[in-house]
Amino acid sequence: MKIIETVDAFRDVRRRTPDPLGLVPTMGYLHDGHLALVRRARAENASVAASIFVNPTQFAPTEDLATYPRDMEGDLEKLEREGVDLVLAPNADEMYPSGFDTFVDVGDVANRLEGAHRPGHFRGVATVVCKLLTIVRPDRAYFGQKDAQQSMVIRRLSADLNLGAEIVVVPTVRDADGLALSSRNAYVKPDQRDAALTLSHSLNLARRMYDDGVRDAEKIRSQMRELIAVVPGANLDYVSIADADTLAELDDIDRPALVSLAVNVGSVRLIDNTLLP
Ligand code: PAJ
Repeated sequence: MKIIETVDAFRDVRRRTPDPLGLVPTMGYLHDGHLALVRRARAENASVAASIFVNPTQFAPTEDLATYPRDMEGDLEKLEREGVDLVLAPNADEMYPSGFDTFVDVGDVANRLEGAHRPGHFRGVATVVCKLLTIVRPDRAYFGQKDAQQSMVIRRLSADLNLGAEIVVVPTVRDADGLALSSRNAYVKPDQRDAALTLSHSLNLARRMYDDGVRDAEKIRSQMRELIAVVPGANLDYVSIADADTLAELDDIDRPALVSLAVNVGSVRLIDNTLLP
């Protein structure tokens, strides 16, 4: 496994790397959710590259960039074990040298949900993913359903700017109790576990109501809000039941829908989602 810190060195190695190549972009502190992407990439491509880069432009000044968990040594061990060929691990100056002044803005799909609650977030995500896809030139790039809207934004980006990568979305990996794996779970204390579980519990409730024939989206949203409101330490940011293609909020669930939510547990902001049907 080659570990590469500069764009020029990566481009040089890339020229000698067999196609097709699959890329797994990450911000590190890897868990089994990330590794599910790596395994899928390993199964589908001759070569696999992963990137580890905590991207400053996708964090607002008030967010957790400084405290975002990091473990480069552990991450490299995990990637080596999964048979990854190349790791791109640049520092912030390499990706954003002084004078950097070009950003990528994806439209509608980036402005809803997480985009509305974290202004500028998807601008940072789209910019860094555009750079990564341009540097690495993968045939396929792998993203998680855990960040459903992010995957949609990146699909739009790759198609609109002809980045040439097929975007593959991999199902969410969960702990045995249902909590979606996330690097930020490292900051959920044991006594906050019940608060963190309100995300998967409320999504399960939505699915049960849907399976029982409820199609009134607001009825489901309000039951989800109630489930979360009664659990101490869980502070709801939003719940959404939206058209799975456009992310426009639905009144009636008469087409494929994405149920998604964000909950603050102490200082940790968690997101999760499920697709209906
Ligand atoms: P990060 O949060 O490290 O996630 C990297 C990838 O792993 C994303 O595609 C994410 O959706 C996926 N992932 C995270 N948890 C998962 C889970 N439990 N199951 C399945 N997939 C999971 O997302 C980012 O980094 C960044 O925004 C990035 C795309 C790298 C751009 O900076």
